[in-house]
Amino acid sequence: MTDNHPTTEDRPAATDDRPVATDDRPVATDDRPVAIDDRPVAVDELVRVDRLTKVFPAGQGTFGRRRGAGAGVRAVDGISFSIARGATLGLVGESGSGKSTTGRLLSRLLDPTAGTVTFDGRDITRLPSRQLRPLRRDIQMIFQDPYSSLNPRHTIGAIIAAPLRVQGLASDSGQAMRARVRELLELVGLNPEHYNRYPHEFSGGQRQRVGIARALATRPKLVIADEPVSALDVSIRAQIINLLDDLRAELGLTYLFIAHDLSMVRHLSDTVAVMYLGQIVEIADRTTLFEHSLHPYTHALLSAVPIPDPASTRQRDRIRLHGDVPSPRNPPSACRFHPRCWKAQDICRTEAPPLADRSPAGSLGSSPAGLADTAPTEPRGPSPTGRPDTPPPGPPDTTPAGRPGTSATGSPGGPPRHQVACHFPEERTVI
Ligand SMILES: Nc1ncnc2c1ncn2[C@@H]1O[C@H](COP(=O)(O)OP(=O)(O)O)[C@@H](O)[C@H]1O
Ligand code: SF4
Ligand SMILES: [Mg+2]
Repeated sequence: MTDNHPTTEDRPAATDDRPVATDDRPVATDDRPVAIDDRPVAVDELVRVDRLTKVFPAGQGTFGRRRGAGAGVRAVDGISFSIARGATLGLVGESGSGKSTTGRLLSRLLDPTAGTVTFDGRDITRLPSRQLRPLRRDIQMIFQDPYSSLNPRHTIGAIIAAPLRVQGLASDSGQAMRARVRELLELVGLNPEHYNRYPHEFSGGQRQRVGIARALATRPKLVIADEPVSALDVSIRAQIINLLDDLRAELGLTYLFIAHDLSMVRHLSDTVAVMYLGQIVEIADRTTLFEHSLHPYTHALLSAVPIPDPASTRQRDRIRLHGDVPSPRNPPSACRFHPRCWKAQDICRTEAPPLADRSPAGSLGSSPAGLADTAPTEPRGPSPTGRPDTPPPGPPDTTPAGRPGTSATGSPGGPPRHQVACHFPEERTVI
């Protein structure tokens, strides 16, 4: 066994687990073949990202610090995906794979280097700053760390009201403002009477609820949740995920849900996209990704997902990847995963695998290869909190009649699209 091989260990059944699903599409890079992008617009598509790329210039550090000269950082490298209104795309990958950059590009906190972002039918890729204000109302973010994202000197009432003031949605001193903040506190399960308390008076989970209330203040259409539970105690995570799930149903929200761990996106997502070193390597509806994954990297991530049934005597081989994600400053040739892949062969080092459809032949209708659309699916999978996670018998992830965006492909009645970028994909059922 070489360093490229994962070690395998017997792993006792774990106790808890969560649900998910997402979607995405092709990648345009200089070293990677790309499908022609003429995909049809999905039914009621809220977000559409086409070959989105972000290269941070050489010498620029994460916080603007100067680094040594050299190649730019290709943090996001030609990714494409769609999210239908009301759906959730789960974006997963190890730290450094470009997830947060993707979220910040979508919300236009960062300017893309190439590619386009279409939101609610409008190209927002190059929107000038004066036109960004209304967009901020429609696209809100929830951040990982509820401690650092709330100003400790402001009351939670002031924190939640801030976006309303910035957007001019309520008068500064008005009763309407206070009433709205109380309403928001109640919505996220906090006591409306705690309006005048400070962040330090709350627990981590409560602080994240404040962060969620702040994000919802402007009645956004899209919420980008960037690892919203990663910093929380395991026992609290399920509560926050269930809160986000309930809010989606109640308010008709659309989510981009970012996590480094597949178990965290399982409950909420309709489609799951797996990201590695700036590119999407596999995307499928939740059920397909968890039960019929094809990419070795996805297999490795899945092997780390806890087994839901604590009483289960099942054991699972865990794939341990060696080393960290390589630097996007100087990514490996061809398939970027090859230095860590136990299946790598010569072609993997010389020829980049395209993101290609692996759905059953003839199942994709008119949707071209290289594209995927996330449409809402129902019912959702089970949650770590004891909510049901297993879809009922019948075709996987089909949407009840009468709902827009009736399948994960955006083609009413069609099966979900499954795409993978690997020369030697192999179906593996990990769960
Ligand atoms: N402002 C920045 N300047 C330079 N490099 C950056 C900047 N922001 C992120 N990066 C780099 O881009 C890559 C992807 O980062 P990020 O999107 O934060 O990944 P993830 O959220 O998946 O951990 C990393 O290598 C990171 O160091
Ligand atoms: S193309 Fe597939 S088999 Fe080859 S290195 Fe990449 S992930 Fe591994
Ligand atoms: Mg991140």
